[in-house]
Amino acid sequence: MSEQSNLALDEASQEAATLREQLNHYNYSYHSLDAPQVSDGQYDLLLRRLETLESQFPTLCSADSPTRRVGSAPLTVFEAVEHAVPMLSLANAFDDDELRDFERRLHARLDDDSAIAFVCEPKLDGVAVSLLYHDGILVQGATRGDGFQGENITANVRTIASIPLKLLGEDFPPVLEVRGEIYLPRAGFERINAEALAKGEKPFVNPRNAAAGSLRQLDSHITATRPLEMCAYSLGLAEGGNLPDSHLATMGCLKSWGFLTNSLMAGVTGIEACVAYYQRLAELRGGLAYDIDGIVYKVDRFALQETLGFVARAPRWAIARKFPAEEASTRLLDVEFQIGRTGAITPVARLEPVFVGGVTVSNATLHNEDEVERLGLRLGDSVVVRRAGDVIPQIARVLPRFEASAGEISEDNSQAIVFPTSCPVCGSALQRSEEQAVLRCTGGLVCGAQRKEAIKHFASRKALDIEGLGDKIIDQLVDAELIATVADLFSLRVEQLAELERMADKSASKLVASIATARATTLPRLLFALGIREVGETTAKVLACHFGSLEKLQEAEAEALLAVPDVGPVVAAFVGQFFSNSHHQAIIASLREAGVEWPDIEPVDTQALPLAGQVWVLTGTLASLSRSQGKAQLEALGAKVSGSVSAKTTCLVAGESAGSKLTKARSLEVKVMDEAEFVALLQGAG
Ligand code: IVH
Repeated sequence: MSEQSNLALDEASQEAATLREQLNHYNYSYHSLDAPQVSDGQYDLLLRRLETLESQFPTLCSADSPTRRVGSAPLTVFEAVEHAVPMLSLANAFDDDELRDFERRLHARLDDDSAIAFVCEPKLDGVAVSLLYHDGILVQGATRGDGFQGENITANVRTIASIPLKLLGEDFPPVLEVRGEIYLPRAGFERINAEALAKGEKPFVNPRNAAAGSLRQLDSHITATRPLEMCAYSLGLAEGGNLPDSHLATMGCLKSWGFLTNSLMAGVTGIEACVAYYQRLAELRGGLAYDIDGIVYKVDRFALQETLGFVARAPRWAIARKFPAEEASTRLLDVEFQIGRTGAITPVARLEPVFVGGVTVSNATLHNEDEVERLGLRLGDSVVVRRAGDVIPQIARVLPRFEASAGEISEDNSQAIVFPTSCPVCGSALQRSEEQAVLRCTGGLVCGAQRKEAIKHFASRKALDIEGLGDKIIDQLVDAELIATVADLFSLRVEQLAELERMADKSASKLVASIATARATTLPRLLFALGIREVGETTAKVLACHFGSLEKLQEAEAEALLAVPDVGPVVAAFVGQFFSNSHHQAIIASLREAGVEWPDIEPVDTQALPLAGQVWVLTGTLASLSRSQGKAQLEALGAKVSGSVSAKTTCLVAGESAGSKLTKARSLEVKVMDEAEFVALLQGAG
């Protein structure tokens, strides 16, 4: 080589080294610290410059170059890799007591009752990986396999941005094996599934399968297109260098060497703190950016870990507390159409019962016709059911219909879901609302289904609160034609009720008594109970406070209604229509005749109240008052009280052990108040 080109190579080599360092650093800030330092465009510019240098001077290519992240030549097979230290699995605990047993066993084995320091970590739902570094350079990536032998997936792991190709700093052991989980964040999963569908390809069932499938690619260029992440959770082999004497401190080192570690990891003392951590994470779970299937608890001190040792293929010093699975697959048996109080028809999926999210699910809402179309759902389909937290079970997706089984294509026996063309209960015509894709029965109270729902609503807790009048009893009363309207409830006799299924004389007398008690109600409750469309509990209160009496509200013209805070043209129209309907007028008259009373109230100018126009949310446990008392007091001051935090929230009152709502409020920079401040505010205002 000429002197000149040697010079050029020297310069290029220096520039390439600087670029690699810069790129590795930016990559670390972005993926592991979640603190980007340059724009994507600037990053790409530097990367392209490095690519140019490496193609001009091929000797500059190195294993730790960020240019290697795009993938390399496809393999024909994955080679086997022996694990120097076996990759073990974890024992499971399925409830709090099993977790307490775990601590008891630890104390017994250690023959020491001193409190134990634990590290709590989310159990990521992905694929375990082992990464080997020689002098800080990534030389091998391997799957867990059977724990003793895995597959060499080095080319694939190199494409994952949160895996350092070269470790940062200098204090790492010369031989270092880092273990962790490769996973696909939910947003990335949605994205690649949307792309697969757009290309007419089969979507992945869940993020874990998608991560596993992405790592199983012989062509690493494909892996490079999947937004995978790697979170480090332990060490395997380590030779030379000095390591800390605890797990938590080791995780700190891993972070400083460039790895992504879980931000929710926490050091605690004693098992009760572990139980509390599980509860906290169970609340946060649904809102996380990635799937977790449990919590892993590890004894923090390595000296204790060593004493405790292993049993079978799991360490005695760690345990996984599993969450109930949030997704499961089952079959769609049928679709039924439920008619709501306002006539809206909701398709409900009848499913082969399946255990998911901690309960057995046999029904799931399908919302409306558009949702059925979006899912591409047909009767007989295999479907994935999702139930996260207290959320109503949903069908997340349909599994591919033409599944090749044992080399054969199974027959497609699915059938189209046919929506009704007239009300399945009363036969009235249906109307389809333009904007909401909702089918609605036009039968009103002629429709038996709507009548039942109207009466259930009237008797419900926030309406007339008739104790003992459950949904099943109302269904029977309407079916037996003992009642047709809400007013008929007040003339029911003990003998009539006693004839119903599973109704003893005593309960019948009790029910008649509680119906009688419910006669004395309030104007806001009555307004809510009438079931006027779009008039919920809050609007009912606002209307009651504004007009002071039912007569004044009944007489109100559109203009007067629109002058009420929060009443827009839609609500005003529904209120107007409701009271001009002669059937509704007759029901109100019958209620009066039956002795139902709702005293007038002093109208207040709600706009002039101190918290008018504000939206408050209450969460956690309050010690000095109940949540409903807090709500009532806030409403009396003119605030609206909502169940969920959004950008519109004025203030969140966070009591003891507040969870996801507090997290959300903080992230939206919504004002947060503790109980003491809240009580002081109420006292100051009162
Ligand atoms: S520690 C000896 N920590 O769970 C301890 N595992 O059966 C070995 N996992 O497939 C694992 N998150 O990949 C550990 N924070 C975490 C984890 C975790 C997920 C996976 C791991 C393994 C399974 C354990």
